[in-house]
Amino acid sequence: MRYNTLVKSQIYFIKTFGCQMNEADSQRLAAALTGQGHRLTSQIDQATVVVINTCSVREAAENRVFGLVEKLAKLSAKSYQPKVILTGCMVGSARGKRRRYTLTQLKNRLPQVKEFKTISELVGDHPLPVTRPCPAEVLVPIMEGCNHFCTYCVVPYARGAEVSRPLDALVTEVEALVKQGAKAVTLLGQNVNSYQPDFAALLRRLQTINRLQKIAFLTSNPWDLTDEIIAAMRGPKVDRQLHLPVQSGDDVILKKMNRPYTAAAYRQLVAKIRRAIPEIRLSTDIIVGFPGETRAQFARTVALCRQVGFNQAYIARYSPRPGTAAFRLADDVTPAEKKRRWRVLEALINRGKI
Ligand code: SAH
Ligand code: SF4
Ligand code: F3S
Repeated sequence: MRYNTLVKSQIYFIKTFGCQMNEADSQRLAAALTGQGHRLTSQIDQATVVVINTCSVREAAENRVFGLVEKLAKLSAKSYQPKVILTGCMVGSARGKRRRYTLTQLKNRLPQVKEFKTISELVGDHPLPVTRPCPAEVLVPIMEGCNHFCTYCVVPYARGAEVSRPLDALVTEVEALVKQGAKAVTLLGQNVNSYQPDFAALLRRLQTINRLQKIAFLTSNPWDLTDEIIAAMRGPKVDRQLHLPVQSGDDVILKKMNRPYTAAAYRQLVAKIRRAIPEIRLSTDIIVGFPGETRAQFARTVALCRQVGFNQAYIARYSPRPGTAAFRLADDVTPAEKKRRWRVLEALINRGKI
């Protein structure tokens, strides 16, 4: 389906919140709208249409969206009246097959927004933008959605079930991008290791594209990073930075999060990867203050981080998300204690102190 609500030539502005998946979706959207004769502006106050590509992963991310919509409504009260279209994960959570809230609830919360559209309604199904700006490094979504349901996470609701893009289509797309000047690609998915039919095969195929110099990918999960994938990662074009979210170093917390591995299994996996690729650098995601997390449990996360030696980490304070399984658990770590735990890890990993 093609987006045809914007009947005549419009000047549009896209505000993107959230992860690189949203970044990639916004790039496709910009290409599609430009291809339909609309013009992109980098100045929000000149736009006739403002598209907000939203993120729901934490309450703070949604609050930033509410804040922007309110700010636009205040401006509109004067003279500037852009049409506001909401898309992305907040809309996905209301419009998809797995819902955390209804569209009516979202509309009531955001009466100033004219339209609520999913990304596929806006962009259509064609993955390759009509006129993709082709910088040296390109984001290439290889799959969509997540089947895992970690208990804290909105993504399986916001983005639905896992769907992989066909391998041949991806190879053709990357070849075309390389012809247009791309030198590096970042393959995107919530769970790239579970790409179907075979992530290792995809990695091997892409490495045979002559002028492609670098292949990175996000996100790998610790439970499905197979030996075959590790073997494919040894190829010289594969980026030596691997993002491998651990979330916690405590087995009881990992279980409550529905993460299907233990801290010991994570350590063994890291050792195996390092044996295969000694120069690899590892980064991670961690949640501090998950329901019931004690100081002793948090200390196990700190110990794991010291041992692994991550070169970077995205550390998040747990944010209860309505509709997820963990929402039923008491959010019992105080904000001050979450902040303290956040600071400890931030100093340890991201500032190299302690
Ligand atoms: N697919 C990736 C990333 C998912 S969301 C993965 O499986 O790791 C990105 C990160 O946000 C997560 O890794 C997690 O650390 C964080 N996150 C997700 N839900 C959260 C919540 N409710 N509160 C705090 N952080 C959260
Ligand atoms: Fe969320 Fe877990 Fe899926 Fe990652 S694997 S997107 S954390 S449910
Ligand atoms: Fe990404 Fe946020 Fe959606 S992290 S997948 S934009 S909920």
